[in-house]
Amino acid sequence: MKYSAKDIENIIYRYLPPEEGYQQDVIKAMNYAYKAGGKRLRPMMMLICYRMFAGDEKDEVLERFMSAIEMIHTYSLIHDDLPALDNDELRRGMPTVHKAFGEDIAILAGDGLLNYAYELAASSFSLRPGDVRIEKAMMILATKPGIYGMIGGQTLDVIMSGKEVDEKQLEYIYVNKTSALIECAMMIGAVLGGADDKSLQDICMVARDVGMAFQVQDDILDIVGDEAKLGKPVLSDEKNDKYTYATIHGLKKAREYVADTSKHACNILDAIPGLVSEYKDELGELISMLIDRDR
Ligand code: IPE
Ligand code: IPE
Ligand code: MG
Ligand code: MG
Ligand code: MG
Repeated sequence: MKYSAKDIENIIYRYLPPEEGYQQDVIKAMNYAYKAGGKRLRPMMMLICYRMFAGDEKDEVLERFMSAIEMIHTYSLIHDDLPALDNDELRRGMPTVHKAFGEDIAILAGDGLLNYAYELAASSFSLRPGDVRIEKAMMILATKPGIYGMIGGQTLDVIMSGKEVDEKQLEYIYVNKTSALIECAMMIGAVLGGADDKSLQDICMVARDVGMAFQVQDDILDIVGDEAKLGKPVLSDEKNDKYTYATIHGLKKAREYVADTSKHACNILDAIPGLVSEYKDELGELISMLIDRDR
């Protein structure tokens, strides 16, 4: 792989707020969660998608959006782990934020990361006032994590805890709670890199499949994974009486789903014309690697 998590961190850590002032407790909790580790997949995918369209050009605007998407992802994890949601005590190999800082600060740290993401992304207008690509990227950053995206999916996920979900509900949950943020990352990379509308739609379809496969693999790892490797508890879904693709269809079918859906994503990607081949191959490789990830 071209980029490691460390390479991405060297870019995205630059934008974290300083831990000072009366509000430093919340900022410390935000930075604790952000720096705890993690695969940095969303900013990595954003960078690769940008380069598929723009080549090797460096872009400060892109880097702000890369940091912002990881802030939104990290907020979603802090809130997902809260006692009122999944009630988990380990994340990225560290105590969850509510364990380390208390529930009050954890809620505020999630809010803080979400809001700061938009503060940071919007600050890129000062670099290129009136830039239509930044306008489009802002709109994607506002919608995909929202009620017609990630929050929508998390909502059905929590209200269906302990209840049997049908195929339509399960698909809604996965498409929204997980694919939406991956669509967000890849589409922003593509938009800032100069993708046209048709290519942007195709990238969205690739990301949707990648997200679905990613969530089903997450559900598999919740059953058969290793807590030390994952850096989060296993059997969280069972504890919360969640029906997942893996519990409904069994591990064998779930593994087939991950492989087939990832392959489908790669086929759509292959058919997009005009991409810089070096980076197209890189994205294909990353998608394939995620099929049998163990963390
Ligand atoms: C975890 O995402 C939440 C899901 C959508 C399954 P990641 O597996 O990307 O978490 P980190 O960023 O590596 O910690
Ligand atoms: C969460 O799905 C997806 C989010 C939007 C955070 P999970 O609840 O399965 O994620 P993990 O397993 O806790 O990372
Ligand atoms: Mg959850
Ligand atoms: Mg969870
Ligand atoms: Mg999970």
